[in-house]
Amino acid sequence: MTDATTATLPLHSGAAIPQLGLGVWQTPAGATARQAVLEALRVGYRHVDTARIYGNEADVGAGIRGSGVPREQVFVTTKLWNDDQGYDRTLRAFDASLQRLGLDYVDLYLLHWPVAGKRLDSWGALERLYEEKRARSIGVSNFLVPHLKELLGAAKHVPAVNQIELTPFLQRRDTTAFCRQHGIVIEAYSPLTHGRRLDHPLLTDVAHRVGRTVAQVLLRWSVQHGNVVLPKSTKPSRIAENAQIFDFTLDERAMADLDALEEGLVTGWDPADQR
Ligand SMILES: NC(=O)c1ccc[n+]([C@@H]2O[C@H](COP(=O)([O-])OP(=O)(O)OC[C@H]3O[C@@H](n4cnc5c(N)ncnc54)[C@H](OP(=O)(O)O)[C@@H]3O)[C@@H](O)[C@H]2O)c1
Repeated sequence: MTDATTATLPLHSGAAIPQLGLGVWQTPAGATARQAVLEALRVGYRHVDTARIYGNEADVGAGIRGSGVPREQVFVTTKLWNDDQGYDRTLRAFDASLQRLGLDYVDLYLLHWPVAGKRLDSWGALERLYEEKRARSIGVSNFLVPHLKELLGAAKHVPAVNQIELTPFLQRRDTTAFCRQHGIVIEAYSPLTHGRRLDHPLLTDVAHRVGRTVAQVLLRWSVQHGNVVLPKSTKPSRIAENAQIFDFTLDERAMADLDALEEGLVTGWDPADQR
């Protein structure tokens, strides 16, 4: 058992979100997804990040049930896919996600993407699900400052989180500053650069200096900046490795070295052009 369960951040919904979560994008549905969730819960994770579009909500639910960890101790996130946006469609999509998960509430429901012309109506539906306590917290993903300003201008409830791609190579400083100012917790997705910079010499050097792996250094950097991290792996050894990030710290020099790596590296989709 690691101490991965001990670090949480407060959300303005009143909930506490574990700072480490298992990501399951591109984790194949079926036994692979179930085993990844089981293994993560076994080594101390208490947070799983799925989405309708990942196609593995049913396995996430089965993994949680099979783990023996009580439901209320696991923080479960799923997300509304783009073709389900709009007020009524959102409500129906949420019901379908709950059914696949085999749960009667989720801890966090996110708008996966700021779909133009629909995102405000969809947010209205999330607010209803929040007020009904079927989504204990609600938030957004891939929202940059213009999307957030528009949302805050119309919303009854401020999003609890904004899940964005975030690494030393893509720091989105204006978005993170805006979110902190409004009490919106940042969830860093693809925190391991989707595997794209794991051989970077500076990371290797820092990892060597602190006696950790590059993956652990990347995750620790984000955690020290106050973010939630969502590393994905299907391999038990890496799932465990990625959880060993709360028993060391990066000193000021190491943090500054990583802070200097900004290069605008987007490994997935880029919401910058999304009006
Ligand atoms: N909201 C969104 O739009 C959005 C977009 C992208 C991602 N996400 C979320 O963020 C999660 C993580 O993002 P991601 O999957 O793009 O990328 P990631 O976690 O940055 O990287 C995953 C890759 O790194 C490998 N890996 C994992 N641990 C490792 C370690 N300790 N050492 C070396 N390699 C390691 C994995 O391979 P193995 O599996 O083979 O170990 C996989 O190829 C997703 O699963 C999802 O939950 C959200």
